[in-house]
Amino acid sequence: MTSPLILAIDQGTSSTKALLVDDTGRVVSRASAPLTETQPRPGWVEQDPEELWQSVRRAVAECVSTEQAARVAGVGFSNQRESLVLWERRTGEPLGPLLSWQDQRTAGHCHELAGSAELVRSVSGMPLDPMFSALKARWLLDAYDPDRRRARAGELCLGTVDSWLLSRFGGEHLIEVGNASRTQLLGVQAGAWDPRLLELFGVPAEVLPRVVPSCGPFPAVRDLAPLPDGVPVLAVLGDSHAAMFAHAGWRPGVVKATYGTGSSVMAIGAGGSSAGLCRSIAWDVGGGPVPAVEGNIRATGRTITWLSELLDVPAETLLAEAEDADPGGVLFVPAFGGLGAPWWDPDATPVITGLTLGTRRAQLAAAALEAVAFQVEDVVTAIEQAVGQVRVLMADGGLTRSAWLMRTQADLSGRTVARSGEHDLSALGAADAAGLAAKLWTTEQLEHRPRPVEEFRPAADHAWRQARKASWRQAVRRARPDEERSIA
Ligand code: G3P
Repeated sequence: MTSPLILAIDQGTSSTKALLVDDTGRVVSRASAPLTETQPRPGWVEQDPEELWQSVRRAVAECVSTEQAARVAGVGFSNQRESLVLWERRTGEPLGPLLSWQDQRTAGHCHELAGSAELVRSVSGMPLDPMFSALKARWLLDAYDPDRRRARAGELCLGTVDSWLLSRFGGEHLIEVGNASRTQLLGVQAGAWDPRLLELFGVPAEVLPRVVPSCGPFPAVRDLAPLPDGVPVLAVLGDSHAAMFAHAGWRPGVVKATYGTGSSVMAIGAGGSSAGLCRSIAWDVGGGPVPAVEGNIRATGRTITWLSELLDVPAETLLAEAEDADPGGVLFVPAFGGLGAPWWDPDATPVITGLTLGTRRAQLAAAALEAVAFQVEDVVTAIEQAVGQVRVLMADGGLTRSAWLMRTQADLSGRTVARSGEHDLSALGAADAAGLAAKLWTTEQLEHRPRPVEEFRPAADHAWRQARKASWRQAVRRARPDEERSIA
């Protein structure tokens, strides 16, 4: 008899990835389909919901052979979070573009709602910010149903990417609980839509999906060749949550950092919003909702691409040059679009200090990488205050290929940094959760599954660490016109 396979699909911002995993957790096939995004105006970031769905179909078609399709026991999804789609319930047709999590068009509305900031923070677990879905929901409804008549009549559906993709399979309008917790419309304690938040953001309850645990029940796949219709969807997780799951990040003392365009630094545990962190729900794979704390940093990998575009030199060259350099007194605060966690200061502006006539490109590259490490360390410190001692930082994402960054992270943090040797951690986490639901493995087995990691141990001493951090804090102060809001 042939062994079962799990298909994992990670629907991300720049591509959709598909992986097939066997019943030992080994990846046997992978494929990816790129995606476009448009910026019709400064600060606006949109995607085409139909293109998103077609990218899922393309990635699956390329990843899975007909022979393998018959062995797929179930599907796990991970997805970009916070991004929002509005569609017609009857036809499934989107009314407009997907508003990306990166979209800043509602930044002005945050100021307008500032009087309710504390309510929003305490109920939803996260600060008022254009990244979350709530203000996007308001914008989409204002644009396509200004009097909310159609929303109230149940004719429209709002949903995050998991919700949108599941709607392609027919059946009920659903959202996975971890994704729902990042919309800023969910009461994070109650795990249900909160009427005060719905009222504040002008979102009728009838337009929202039903919140379900991470293992569903979800509708089975349809029109996802070469899979036969009816293959069950066994798990859905937000991408950052899925990466955490792949690191078996429920173990005490573990924090994960994904080094992508921006970064998500996350740990399991409650508390944290007073320390500038978001409280959310990591997942519910059977034992009830698991609370998480998370800090989102706007510009990490983006800092390197900005520098590479500015200097017209490939990012790889910058990373290679940084390997043999140090910042040499240069400090870079990459507050592009403001600063995220733990500062949450939309008015912060980028600064570079310490430039001299002798400053060379390699030093700028090292300063940009060091800024990534400083920002991650700020969040790790806040997480430690919220949930207790952090032993190890599990690192994943494209920028972890810089060994200089990993060493510097360990030195600044004074903790071991474990760099994952796996790509596509989010998809692997979705596969892990789906395989758990299919009873292919247990959580204990996932904890002991040998996944390749490379450890970077801190080499710098306490005094060096304190001095670097003091310089960084000073540079951050210069980036923030309204220093009073500092929570450090
Ligand atoms: O919170 C946004 C995040 O989920 C997007 O992830 O991997 O698509 O950039 P990614």
